Amino acid sequence: MLRDRNILLGVTGSIAAYKSVDIARRLIENGAYVKVVMTEASSRFITPYVFEAVTGNQVCTDLFKEPFNHIHLSKEAHLFIIAPATANTINKLSCGIADNLLSNLWLTYEGPALIAPAMNYRMYRSPIVKKHIRDLKQSGVQFVGPVSGSLACGEEGEGRMVEVPQIVEAAAKALSKKDLTGQHILITAGPTVEPIDPVRYMSNRSSGKMGYAIARAALRRGADVTLISGPSSQEPPEGVSFISVERASEMEAAVFKQFKKATSVIMAAAVSDYSPSDPARVKLRKKDVMSLKLKKNTDILRELGKKKGRRVLVGFAAESGKDIKSAITKLKEKNLDLIVLNDISRKDAGFDVDTNVVTIINRKDRINEYPLMKKIEIADIILDRMREIGAKA
Ligand code: CTP
Repeated sequence: MLRDRNILLGVTGSIAAYKSVDIARRLIENGAYVKVVMTEASSRFITPYVFEAVTGNQVCTDLFKEPFNHIHLSKEAHLFIIAPATANTINKLSCGIADNLLSNLWLTYEGPALIAPAMNYRMYRSPIVKKHIRDLKQSGVQFVGPVSGSLACGEEGEGRMVEVPQIVEAAAKALSKKDLTGQHILITAGPTVEPIDPVRYMSNRSSGKMGYAIARAALRRGADVTLISGPSSQEPPEGVSFISVERASEMEAAVFKQFKKATSVIMAAAVSDYSPSDPARVKLRKKDVMSLKLKKNTDILRELGKKKGRRVLVGFAAESGKDIKSAITKLKEKNLDLIVLNDISRKDAGFDVDTNVVTIINRKDRINEYPLMKKIEIADIILDRMREIGAKA
């Protein structure tokens, strides 16, 4: 979503201005072109030189340095972010006061805009600031934060700028097409954990990264998303309905409870095929040889396939090697619309890495192979394919 987009990053006079360097850096890492506009006050906290070094572009501060800068810069921008945005700047933007380059640009800019406020909590709760934030929101401006926490002045309260990854995520969301609005997507992610006794368990190496990436991409595109996840170190994305589970049986119950309202289901979880048939209530003592009796868990996806109706059903096939035949068998036997095959024998794909190499197969045996990509990019491809099928149904 950020690739090849021109982003205008406005920085105003708050101590959080140092975090804007990281915002610029991360936007660039995601493929965006960033130009920075600073207010006079912000340059007391951080010098323009730092932004110039990070972005490779000249930082604009002076309204009178180059004629018509206040028009050119806003014309070429796909997104205008102001982070941090002080109470003073927010109030001025809402009233249309144009007394510096940044506020002039605001008046000439016509695209999506995102504001990340940063101020003392008393300023944030003042009725004047509240009114201006409300007015800006009503005119379509998006806000991210602020959050509660310790403030630069040493006090605690709501007014702290949100962390950089949230601002970058909000930027990606602001730039996303909203083509999944009205859809309810049920996504599963992560491993399941099957207890052997109170201290030991059986599980697998799934990190949840792929499923969480799909949830994030679907939310950006306007879908309602329910994410059912086994234990994972991933942060549930903002705005998701999140259900945490451990065992395959808990995942099964949660999936069937949420299934009715779903328009599509994407089973990215690595569900344990087996669980100990009789988990011990007390810790097992060690023996020279130990055997574990396992029972087969329900194949959740296969059961969903029997009652899918008009829903689009997407499964994953984790295979050691590019086993297209086995993926097609899973697609057919489980009555899926799409199956995403990933070769878990590769180091740069599959479990616990940020990239993946997938092959997507549909019911008509159309096989699409994709190169090594970030999981968030693959997430969008899966959603595109899912949407195509939903539109035809
Ligand atoms: N799946 C499921 N319930 C299970 C096992 C798997 O819903 N008990 C789902 C997975 O979420 C995935 C798909 O089925 O979307 C295929 O999972 P995979 O582990 O690749 O295949 P299995 O069907 O379990 O077969 P095998 O382990 O023999 O390869």
